[in-house]
Amino acid sequence: MEKCLAPSVLSADFGIIKEQLELIDKAGAKYVHFDVMDGMYVPSISFGFPVLKSMRKYTNRVLDVHLMIVNPERYIEKFAEAGADIITVHAEACTHLDATIDQIKSCGVKAGVAINPATPIANIIHVLDKVDMVLIMTVNPGFGGQKLIPYTLDKVRELRNFVNAKQLDIDIEVDGGINKDTIDSALEAGANIIVAGSAVFEGDVKANTEALLEKMK
Ligand code: DX5
Ligand code: ZN
Repeated sequence: MEKCLAPSVLSADFGIIKEQLELIDKAGAKYVHFDVMDGMYVPSISFGFPVLKSMRKYTNRVLDVHLMIVNPERYIEKFAEAGADIITVHAEACTHLDATIDQIKSCGVKAGVAINPATPIANIIHVLDKVDMVLIMTVNPGFGGQKLIPYTLDKVRELRNFVNAKQLDIDIEVDGGINKDTIDSALEAGANIIVAGSAVFEGDVKANTEALLEKMK
């Protein structure tokens, strides 16, 4: 299974977003992680489709849209039109998760399902045959720069074992508190898509990206 780094632009400098996207692209990051927050599902508010549409002009990498919003089915088409390649919804935020996943796929983009630290894998087992990716939150969603919660990696391990045993073609993404000190344990647990916000965009973006990619070899 291919390993990919997904820098989260939540921690980027939006005054120079074009340059920041170029830096992560040149360093070799294959994904760009885009965190949408509505001030309801999570306390904070970030950005939405106009920003995604504008970023789409400056990157050919995989735009990985993480919707931390209530009832995300209201906006799936909008994010697909704005240029998303993958749309991930939170299992906890969907009234009809199965139908919302079908809706994402009907837009011609990949579908992901995310779960918070306190949500068990059992809650998404029945949709695994229709999703392309599972996002295991390794912090409580809402802010960048938090510390990874160790027990979340037990869920990554549990899901990796399940996916391997059933020979499912699913990516496992981890998000929150991933940096040069924690990335090894996330990879070892079985994650193959690695989100990193502050660990990429605080300081030397190119050097940070390269250092994380080096650990993923
Ligand atoms: C948190 C977001 C993350 C965030 C990660 O709710 O989903 O994608 O940007 O930030 P770091 O890597 O700084 O923990
Ligand atoms: Zn995220």
